[in-house]
Amino acid sequence: MNKKPLILGIESSCDETAASIITENSQGNPIVLSNIVSSQVDVHKKFGGVVPELAARSHLEKIDWIVQKAIEDSGVKIEEIDAVASTAGPGLIVCLSVGLSFGKAVALSLNKPFIAVNHLEGHALSPKLNSELNYPYLFLLISGGHSQYLSVKNLSEYKRLGTTIDDAIGEAFDKTAKLLGIEFPGGPQIEILAKKGDPNKYNLPKPIINKGGCNLSFAGLKTAILKITKKIKTDQEKFDLAASFQRTIIEILYKKTKIAFVDFEKQIKPKEKNFVVAGGVAANKEIRKMLINVCKEENYQPIFPPIELCGDNAAMIAMVGLEKFKLKQFDKLDHPAKPRWPLDEGAIFLKGAGVKL
Ligand SMILES: Nc1ncnc2c1ncn2[C@@H]1O[C@H](COP(=O)(O)OP(=O)(O)OP(=O)(O)O)[C@@H](O)[C@H]1O
Ligand SMILES: [Mg+2]
Repeated sequence: MNKKPLILGIESSCDETAASIITENSQGNPIVLSNIVSSQVDVHKKFGGVVPELAARSHLEKIDWIVQKAIEDSGVKIEEIDAVASTAGPGLIVCLSVGLSFGKAVALSLNKPFIAVNHLEGHALSPKLNSELNYPYLFLLISGGHSQYLSVKNLSEYKRLGTTIDDAIGEAFDKTAKLLGIEFPGGPQIEILAKKGDPNKYNLPKPIINKGGCNLSFAGLKTAILKITKKIKTDQEKFDLAASFQRTIIEILYKKTKIAFVDFEKQIKPKEKNFVVAGGVAANKEIRKMLINVCKEENYQPIFPPIELCGDNAAMIAMVGLEKFKLKQFDKLDHPAKPRWPLDEGAIFLKGAGVKL
Protein backbone atom coordinates (compact mmCIF):
# COMPACT_ATOMS: atom_id res chain seq x y z
CA MET A 1 0.00 0.00 0.00
CA ASN A 2 1.31 3.46 -0.95
CA LYS A 3 2.05 5.65 2.06
CA LYS A 4 -0.23 8.69 2.13
CA PRO A 5 1.66 12.01 2.29
CA LEU A 6 1.97 13.66 5.70
CA ILE A 7 2.40 17.43 5.44
CA LEU A 8 3.40 19.84 8.19
CA GLY A 9 1.96 23.34 7.63
CA ILE A 10 3.24 26.46 9.43
CA GLU A 11 1.61 29.91 9.49
CA SER A 12 2.95 33.17 11.00
CA SER A 13 2.08 35.92 8.49
CA CYS A 14 0.28 38.22 10.93
CA ASP A 15 -0.94 37.69 14.50
CA GLU A 16 -1.65 33.96 14.60
CA THR A 17 1.08 31.39 15.22
CA ALA A 18 -0.19 28.11 13.80
CA ALA A 19 0.90 24.59 12.85
CA SER A 20 -1.01 21.64 11.45
CA ILE A 21 -0.46 18.13 10.16
CA ILE A 22 -2.68 16.87 7.37
CA THR A 23 -2.79 13.73 5.25
CA GLU A 24 -5.38 12.14 2.97
CA ASN A 25 -7.61 9.06 3.04
CA SER A 26 -7.72 6.25 0.50
CA GLN A 27 -10.14 8.25 -1.69
CA GLY A 28 -7.65 11.13 -1.80
CA ASN A 29 -9.70 13.41 0.50
CA PRO A 30 -7.68 15.50 2.96
CA ILE A 31 -7.75 14.64 6.67
CA VAL A 32 -6.69 17.16 9.32
CA LEU A 33 -4.74 15.25 11.98
CA SER A 34 -3.97 18.31 14.10
CA ASN A 35 -4.58 22.04 13.85
CA ILE A 36 -3.07 24.32 16.51
CA VAL A 37 -3.71 28.08 16.37
CA SER A 38 -2.42 30.52 18.97
CA SER A 39 -3.88 33.99 18.61
CA GLN A 40 -2.12 37.12 19.85
CA VAL A 41 -5.28 39.18 20.39
CA ASP A 42 -4.34 39.93 24.01
CA VAL A 43 -0.89 41.21 22.97
CA HIS A 44 -2.32 43.76 20.51
CA LYS A 45 -5.63 44.69 22.14
CA LYS A 46 -4.35 47.69 24.07
CA PHE A 47 -2.82 49.17 20.89
CA GLY A 48 -6.04 48.80 18.85
CA GLY A 49 -4.23 46.91 16.06
CA VAL A 50 -1.34 44.54 15.29
CA VAL A 51 2.10 45.88 16.33
CA PRO A 52 4.61 44.13 13.99
CA GLU A 53 7.56 44.01 16.44
CA LEU A 54 5.40 42.54 19.22
CA ALA A 55 3.80 40.08 16.81
CA ALA A 56 7.21 38.83 15.64
CA ARG A 57 8.44 38.40 19.23
CA SER A 58 5.34 36.47 20.14
CA HIS A 59 5.81 34.15 17.09
CA LEU A 60 9.42 33.55 18.16
CA GLU A 61 8.35 32.66 21.71
CA LYS A 62 5.65 30.23 20.59
CA ILE A 63 6.71 28.63 17.32
CA ASP A 64 8.66 25.72 18.89
CA TRP A 65 5.89 24.45 21.11
CA ILE A 66 3.10 25.13 18.60
CA VAL A 67 4.85 22.93 16.02
CA GLN A 68 5.69 20.36 18.69
CA LYS A 69 2.05 20.27 19.85
CA ALA A 70 0.79 19.88 16.26
CA ILE A 71 3.09 16.86 15.86
CA GLU A 72 2.07 15.36 19.24
CA ASP A 73 -1.66 15.86 18.62
CA SER A 74 -1.45 14.28 15.17
CA GLY A 75 -0.14 11.01 16.58
CA VAL A 76 2.63 10.81 13.96
CA LYS A 77 6.38 10.91 14.50
CA ILE A 78 8.30 13.90 13.19
CA GLU A 79 10.47 11.69 10.97
CA GLU A 80 7.34 10.39 9.20
CA ILE A 81 6.55 13.85 7.79
CA ASP A 82 6.98 13.98 3.99
CA ALA A 83 7.20 17.75 3.44
CA VAL A 84 7.10 21.05 5.28
CA ALA A 85 4.94 23.92 3.94
CA SER A 86 5.35 27.42 5.41
CA THR A 87 3.61 30.68 4.58
CA ALA A 88 6.11 32.87 2.68
CA GLY A 89 3.78 35.84 2.04
CA PRO A 90 1.96 38.12 1.85
CA GLY A 91 2.14 39.56 5.37
CA LEU A 92 4.41 41.37 7.81
CA ILE A 93 8.00 40.55 6.90
CA VAL A 94 9.18 40.26 10.51
CA CYS A 95 6.35 37.79 11.19
CA LEU A 96 6.67 35.80 7.96
CA SER A 97 10.39 35.32 8.60
CA VAL A 98 9.73 33.38 11.81
CA GLY A 99 7.52 30.61 10.37
CA LEU A 100 9.39 30.55 7.07
CA SER A 101 12.83 30.08 8.68
CA PHE A 102 11.46 27.55 11.15
CA GLY A 103 9.85 25.53 8.36
CA LYS A 104 13.04 25.56 6.28
CA ALA A 105 15.06 24.39 9.29
CA VAL A 106 12.66 21.48 9.98
CA ALA A 107 12.71 20.45 6.29
CA LEU A 108 16.50 20.63 6.17
CA SER A 109 16.95 18.63 9.37
CA LEU A 110 14.54 15.92 8.15
CA ASN A 111 16.00 16.03 4.64
CA LYS A 112 12.46 16.47 3.26
CA PRO A 113 11.11 18.87 0.61
CA PHE A 114 10.22 22.43 1.54
CA ILE A 115 7.19 24.25 0.05
CA ALA A 116 6.73 28.05 0.23
CA VAL A 117 3.01 28.85 0.37
CA ASN A 118 1.07 31.98 -0.57
CA HIS A 119 -1.19 32.66 2.45
CA LEU A 120 -4.01 33.79 0.14
CA GLU A 121 -3.82 30.51 -1.76
CA GLY A 122 -4.28 28.89 1.66
CA HIS A 123 -7.59 30.76 2.03
CA ALA A 124 -8.52 29.82 -1.57
CA LEU A 125 -8.01 26.10 -0.91
CA SER A 126 -9.34 26.07 2.68
CA PRO A 127 -12.79 24.65 1.71
CA LYS A 128 -11.01 21.58 0.31
CA LEU A 129 -10.40 20.54 3.92
CA ASN A 130 -14.08 19.69 4.34
CA SER A 131 -15.67 19.49 0.89
CA GLU A 132 -14.92 18.11 -2.51
CA LEU A 133 -13.95 20.90 -4.85
CA ASN A 134 -12.63 20.74 -8.39
CA TYR A 135 -10.98 23.43 -10.50
CA PRO A 136 -12.04 25.81 -11.94
CA TYR A 137 -14.07 27.88 -9.48
CA LEU A 138 -14.93 31.45 -8.63
CA PHE A 139 -13.33 32.63 -5.39
CA LEU A 140 -14.36 35.52 -3.16
CA LEU A 141 -11.64 36.32 -0.64
CA ILE A 142 -12.97 38.46 2.21
CA SER A 143 -10.32 38.88 4.88
CA GLY A 144 -8.51 41.41 7.05
CA GLY A 145 -6.18 42.51 4.25
CA HIS A 146 -7.98 41.58 1.04
CA SER A 147 -11.34 41.72 -0.76
CA GLN A 148 -11.15 40.16 -4.19
CA TYR A 149 -13.07 38.12 -6.74
CA LEU A 150 -10.74 35.72 -8.57
CA SER A 151 -11.24 32.95 -11.05
CA VAL A 152 -9.21 29.92 -10.00
CA LYS A 153 -8.31 27.94 -13.12
CA ASN A 154 -5.99 25.53 -11.39
CA LEU A 155 -3.50 25.34 -8.53
CA SER A 156 -1.54 28.64 -8.61
CA GLU A 157 -3.50 29.89 -11.67
CA TYR A 158 -5.52 32.92 -10.66
CA LYS A 159 -7.12 35.73 -12.64
CA ARG A 160 -8.36 38.68 -10.63
CA LEU A 161 -11.83 39.85 -11.66
CA GLY A 162 -12.28 42.55 -9.03
CA THR A 163 -10.58 43.95 -5.96
CA THR A 164 -11.07 46.65 -3.35
CA ILE A 165 -9.66 49.99 -4.44
CA ASP A 166 -9.14 51.11 -0.82
CA ASP A 167 -9.96 49.32 2.48
CA ALA A 168 -10.37 45.57 2.80
CA ILE A 169 -13.75 44.38 4.04
CA GLY A 170 -12.34 43.02 7.34
CA GLU A 171 -10.61 46.36 7.85
CA ALA A 172 -13.98 48.10 7.35
CA PHE A 173 -15.52 45.84 10.03
CA ASP A 174 -12.62 46.49 12.42
CA LYS A 175 -12.60 50.27 11.84
CA THR A 176 -16.37 50.50 12.31
CA ALA A 177 -16.03 48.53 15.54
CA LYS A 178 -13.31 50.90 16.75
CA LEU A 179 -15.53 53.92 16.03
CA LEU A 180 -18.27 52.23 18.06
CA GLY A 181 -15.85 51.79 20.96
CA ILE A 182 -15.40 48.01 20.54
CA GLU A 183 -12.01 46.49 21.33
CA PHE A 184 -9.74 45.13 18.54
CA PRO A 185 -10.47 42.96 16.60
CA GLY A 186 -14.07 44.14 16.51
CA GLY A 187 -15.30 42.46 13.29
CA PRO A 188 -16.94 39.48 15.00
CA GLN A 189 -18.49 41.80 17.63
CA ILE A 190 -20.26 43.84 14.94
CA GLU A 191 -22.11 40.70 13.90
CA ILE A 192 -23.25 40.18 17.51
CA LEU A 193 -24.32 43.82 18.08
CA ALA A 194 -26.10 43.92 14.71
CA LYS A 195 -28.53 41.24 15.95
CA LYS A 196 -29.99 43.78 18.41
CA GLY A 197 -30.25 46.66 15.94
CA ASP A 198 -32.48 47.98 13.15
CA PRO A 199 -30.63 47.40 9.85
CA ASN A 200 -32.68 50.10 8.11
CA LYS A 201 -32.13 52.89 10.63
CA TYR A 202 -29.16 54.53 8.86
CA ASN A 203 -28.72 55.03 5.14
CA LEU A 204 -25.00 54.54 4.42
CA PRO A 205 -23.12 55.06 1.12
CA LYS A 206 -22.31 52.18 -1.22
CA PRO A 207 -19.23 53.49 -3.05
CA ILE A 208 -18.78 52.47 -6.75
CA ILE A 209 -21.91 50.30 -6.55
CA ASN A 210 -22.94 51.25 -10.09
CA LYS A 211 -19.51 51.30 -11.73
CA GLY A 212 -16.16 49.51 -11.79
CA GLY A 213 -17.52 46.00 -12.52
CA CYS A 214 -16.99 43.78 -9.49
CA ASN A 215 -14.34 46.05 -7.95
CA LEU A 216 -15.16 47.11 -4.40
CA SER A 217 -14.70 50.18 -2.20
CA PHE A 218 -15.35 50.55 1.53
CA ALA A 219 -13.46 53.70 2.61
CA GLY A 220 -16.48 56.03 2.13
CA LEU A 221 -18.50 53.89 4.53
CA LYS A 222 -15.99 54.51 7.30
CA THR A 223 -16.21 58.31 6.83
CA ALA A 224 -20.01 58.17 6.95
CA ILE A 225 -19.90 56.08 10.12
CA LEU A 226 -17.44 58.47 11.74
CA LYS A 227 -19.90 61.35 11.22
CA ILE A 228 -22.82 59.37 12.70
CA THR A 229 -20.88 58.09 15.73
CA LYS A 230 -20.25 61.71 16.75
CA LYS A 231 -24.02 62.17 17.19
CA ILE A 232 -25.17 58.87 18.70
CA LYS A 233 -25.80 58.64 22.44
CA THR A 234 -27.58 55.41 23.31
CA ASP A 235 -26.62 51.75 23.10
CA GLN A 236 -29.63 51.14 20.87
CA GLU A 237 -28.28 53.67 18.36
CA LYS A 238 -24.96 51.78 18.41
CA PHE A 239 -26.75 48.50 17.67
CA ASP A 240 -28.70 50.19 14.86
CA LEU A 241 -25.48 51.52 13.32
CA ALA A 242 -23.79 48.11 13.51
CA ALA A 243 -26.84 46.51 11.88
CA SER A 244 -27.05 49.21 9.18
CA PHE A 245 -23.33 48.83 8.43
CA GLN A 246 -23.65 45.06 8.07
CA ARG A 247 -26.75 45.42 5.88
CA THR A 248 -24.88 47.87 3.61
CA ILE A 249 -21.93 45.47 3.25
CA ILE A 250 -24.39 42.69 2.41
CA GLU A 251 -26.09 44.81 -0.27
CA ILE A 252 -22.73 45.71 -1.82
CA LEU A 253 -21.61 42.06 -1.92
CA TYR A 254 -25.00 40.94 -3.30
CA LYS A 255 -24.73 43.25 -6.30
CA LYS A 256 -20.99 42.76 -6.91
CA THR A 257 -21.24 38.96 -6.65
CA LYS A 258 -23.83 38.89 -9.44
CA ILE A 259 -21.44 40.92 -11.63
CA ALA A 260 -18.57 38.56 -10.71
CA PHE A 261 -20.68 35.53 -11.78
CA VAL A 262 -21.16 37.08 -15.25
CA ASP A 263 -17.45 37.99 -15.57
CA PHE A 264 -16.40 34.49 -14.43
CA GLU A 265 -18.63 32.77 -16.98
CA LYS A 266 -17.41 35.05 -19.76
CA GLN A 267 -13.84 34.16 -18.93
CA ILE A 268 -14.01 30.47 -18.05
CA LYS A 269 -17.25 28.84 -19.32
CA PRO A 270 -17.23 26.41 -16.35
CA LYS A 271 -18.94 23.01 -16.44
CA GLU A 272 -19.75 23.28 -12.73
CA LYS A 273 -20.59 26.66 -11.25
CA ASN A 274 -18.80 26.60 -7.90
CA PHE A 275 -18.48 29.72 -5.74
CA VAL A 276 -15.94 29.54 -2.92
CA VAL A 277 -16.02 32.17 -0.16
CA ALA A 278 -13.18 32.23 2.39
CA GLY A 279 -11.15 34.50 4.69
CA GLY A 280 -12.01 35.81 8.17
CA VAL A 281 -15.17 37.68 7.13
CA ALA A 282 -16.60 34.47 5.62
CA ALA A 283 -17.32 33.51 9.25
CA ASN A 284 -20.10 36.14 9.32
CA LYS A 285 -23.38 34.21 9.26
CA GLU A 286 -25.50 37.00 7.75
CA ILE A 287 -23.03 37.44 4.88
CA ARG A 288 -23.01 33.66 4.37
CA LYS A 289 -26.81 33.58 4.31
CA MET A 290 -27.02 36.27 1.63
CA LEU A 291 -24.29 34.66 -0.51
CA ILE A 292 -26.09 31.30 -0.32
CA ASN A 293 -29.24 33.08 -1.57
CA VAL A 294 -27.41 34.71 -4.51
CA CYS A 295 -26.09 31.27 -5.42
CA LYS A 296 -29.63 29.85 -5.37
CA GLU A 297 -30.83 32.66 -7.64
CA GLU A 298 -27.97 32.17 -10.12
CA ASN A 299 -27.57 28.38 -9.97
CA TYR A 300 -24.18 28.34 -8.26
CA GLN A 301 -22.95 25.91 -5.62
CA PRO A 302 -21.84 27.92 -2.54
CA ILE A 303 -18.78 26.46 -0.79
CA PHE A 304 -17.40 27.77 2.52
CA PRO A 305 -14.67 26.44 4.82
CA PRO A 306 -15.88 25.48 8.29
CA ILE A 307 -16.18 28.60 10.51
CA GLU A 308 -13.02 27.69 12.47
CA LEU A 309 -10.96 27.58 9.26
CA CYS A 310 -12.10 31.00 7.94
CA GLY A 311 -9.50 32.95 9.93
CA ASP A 312 -5.77 32.28 9.74
CA ASN A 313 -4.70 28.69 10.38
CA ALA A 314 -2.00 26.28 9.24
CA ALA A 315 -4.29 23.49 8.00
CA MET A 316 -5.02 25.61 4.91
CA ILE A 317 -1.27 26.15 4.41
CA ALA A 318 -0.71 22.38 4.68
CA MET A 319 -3.58 21.91 2.16
CA VAL A 320 -1.66 23.94 -0.46
CA GLY A 321 1.45 22.00 0.57
CA LEU A 322 -0.37 18.70 -0.04
CA GLU A 323 -1.43 19.67 -3.57
CA LYS A 324 2.04 20.97 -4.42
CA PHE A 325 3.68 17.88 -2.91
CA LYS A 326 1.63 15.61 -5.16
CA LEU A 327 2.81 17.64 -8.17
CA LYS A 328 6.39 17.66 -6.84
CA GLN A 329 6.38 21.48 -6.79
CA PHE A 330 9.08 22.11 -4.21
CA ASP A 331 10.96 25.29 -3.33
CA LYS A 332 14.57 26.00 -2.54
CA LEU A 333 15.69 26.87 0.96
CA ASP A 334 16.60 30.41 -0.16
CA HIS A 335 12.96 31.20 -1.01
CA PRO A 336 12.39 34.79 0.23
CA ALA A 337 9.65 36.11 2.48
CA LYS A 338 7.36 38.18 0.24
CA PRO A 339 5.41 40.94 2.06
CA ARG A 340 3.51 41.62 -1.16
CA TRP A 341 2.50 38.54 -3.16
CA PRO A 342 -0.74 38.88 -5.15
CA LEU A 343 -2.48 35.72 -6.35
CA ASP A 344 -2.75 37.22 -9.83
CA GLU A 345 0.71 38.69 -10.32
CA GLY A 346 -0.29 40.13 -13.71
CA ALA A 347 -3.21 42.20 -12.36
CA ILE A 348 -2.68 45.96 -12.28
CA PHE A 349 -2.36 47.76 -8.94
CA LEU A 350 -5.76 49.33 -8.22
CA LYS A 351 -5.41 51.35 -5.06
CA GLY A 352 -5.47 54.95 -3.98
CA ALA A 353 -6.62 58.30 -5.32
CA GLY A 354 -6.75 58.66 -9.08
CA VAL A 355 -7.63 55.03 -9.76
CA LYS A 356 -9.58 54.80 -13.02
CA LEU A 357 -12.30 52.14 -13.08
N1 LIG B 1 -17.99 37.24 12.14
C1 LIG B 1 -17.28 38.15 11.53
N2 LIG B 1 -17.88 39.19 10.89
C2 LIG B 1 -17.15 40.13 10.26
N3 LIG B 1 -15.81 40.14 10.21
C3 LIG B 1 -15.16 39.13 10.82
C4 LIG B 1 -15.86 38.09 11.50
N4 LIG B 1 -14.92 37.22 12.02
C5 LIG B 1 -13.71 37.70 11.64
N5 LIG B 1 -13.85 38.85 10.94
C6 LIG B 1 -12.78 39.69 10.38
O1 LIG B 1 -11.88 38.90 9.63
C7 LIG B 1 -10.61 39.53 9.59
C8 LIG B 1 -9.51 38.51 9.85
O2 LIG B 1 -9.48 37.62 8.77
P1 LIG B 1 -8.12 36.91 8.32
O3 LIG B 1 -7.49 36.33 9.53
O4 LIG B 1 -8.42 36.02 7.19
O5 LIG B 1 -7.34 38.19 7.80
P2 LIG B 1 -5.80 38.44 7.69
O6 LIG B 1 -5.08 37.15 7.66
O7 LIG B 1 -5.45 39.45 8.72
O8 LIG B 1 -5.70 39.12 6.26
P3 LIG B 1 -5.23 38.42 4.87
O9 LIG B 1 -5.67 37.00 4.91
O10 LIG B 1 -5.93 39.24 3.85
O11 LIG B 1 -3.76 38.57 4.86
C9 LIG B 1 -10.63 40.62 10.67
O12 LIG B 1 -10.74 41.86 10.02
C10 LIG B 1 -11.89 40.28 11.47
O13 LIG B 1 -12.50 41.39 12.06
MG1 LIG C 1 -5.63 35.58 6.41
